[in-house]
Amino acid sequence: MSEVIQVGLEGRGYDIHVGHGLLTEAGALLKPLARGPVPVVTDATVGEIHLASFLDVCSKSGIDARPVVMPPGEGTKSFAGLENLSIALLETGVGRGGLIVALGGGVIGDLTGFAAGVLKRGVAFAQIPTTLLAQVDSSVGGKTAINAPQGKNLIGLFHQPRIVIADTALLDTLPRRELLAGYVEVVKYGALGDAHFFDWLEVNGAKALAGGKNAMIHAVAHSCRMKAAIVGRDERETGERALLNLGHTFGHALEAATGFSDRLIHGEGVAIGMTLAFRLSVRLGLCPGQDAERFARHLESAGLPSAISDIPGPRPAFEALIAAMGHDKKVKDGKLTFILLHGLGQAFVTSDVPLEAVKDVLSA
Ligand code: NAD
Ligand code: GLY
Repeated sequence: MSEVIQVGLEGRGYDIHVGHGLLTEAGALLKPLARGPVPVVTDATVGEIHLASFLDVCSKSGIDARPVVMPPGEGTKSFAGLENLSIALLETGVGRGGLIVALGGGVIGDLTGFAAGVLKRGVAFAQIPTTLLAQVDSSVGGKTAINAPQGKNLIGLFHQPRIVIADTALLDTLPRRELLAGYVEVVKYGALGDAHFFDWLEVNGAKALAGGKNAMIHAVAHSCRMKAAIVGRDERETGERALLNLGHTFGHALEAATGFSDRLIHGEGVAIGMTLAFRLSVRLGLCPGQDAERFARHLESAGLPSAISDIPGPRPAFEALIAAMGHDKKVKDGKLTFILLHGLGQAFVTSDVPLEAVKDVLSA
């Protein structure tokens, strides 16, 4: 069982292939796009596990793959990482009409997409996402970036991939914590715009996380379908695409206040952030309390954090959280923009949120 989802962008549309064991077909899918040397960018952890078999697939399809291995971790999405990668890409001899492949999680995808976007004023690239987060979110939609000392993802560009190949079998080697962090982004789609999908996840999410192949393919494909539809309507985030940031204003603030450390990884921050967005919506009388409770219960049943008190170590200072939210990209005209909810599957964007209500929710 595999699925193909189209991202409908005029002149820049592409297919997302989702299936279990798809890597074996990646050579045939990439071959029509490959010209000359094809750099394959990965990180050392993914490289150790999956690079050899991917290179084998490439060689069988007559693709001249040139591996470029970067250090794992968010630190690689930096000016230094971009410099090292750009030099390595140039050394492979990839041409302006060539193809660069990103084989990795969101870090490798975001960095490689950015490097491809600026290399020789733009080289095509393909995404082969290897984390659940990357399969359902970062590999789709063309946002690419590196981090700055001032914040995450502040230097980047929109550069759509030419193809996305999401092989759910690659998730078998992903540490459980990373798998769960990616699942948060799956749940996000249900929460923001599809209550039926949320119902489905309540019944089948545990099966997908326990290795159920068809359940995972459906979870990934449906998430990609939702993201593709939103990106197709609002590529540059002038409106609806902002809904994909549900939970992220709170989540980024929590990540910043815990020093972007192992105490709280991105998806866990978003899990707590989305629960806070539900609670803020309830506090403002916009959303039924039972929807917020149901949402938190589902995260907890999957083994995810849903409250600030679930973060190990000292509770992040409330002032630090408010300050961090002020630095977020989503600040417009001095007002915090939040994604709030009228209920499960009914998110909307607003800047009309009293600071008092935010304080109440953060200190509860
Ligand atoms: P990641 O790329 O750092 O991967 C997490 C860890 O898992 C790494 O240590 C990696 O080496 C390891 N790993 C990856 N695949 C593996 C596999 N199959 N088996 C074993 N280990 C594996 O992190 P991530 O969570 O994938 O991505 C996070 C990044 O994505 C952040 O930088 C975030 O800003 C970005 N992001 C971007 C977008 C976008 O639209 N571009 C959306 C969401 C998140
Ligand atoms: N992850 C948010 C977006 O792609 O817009």
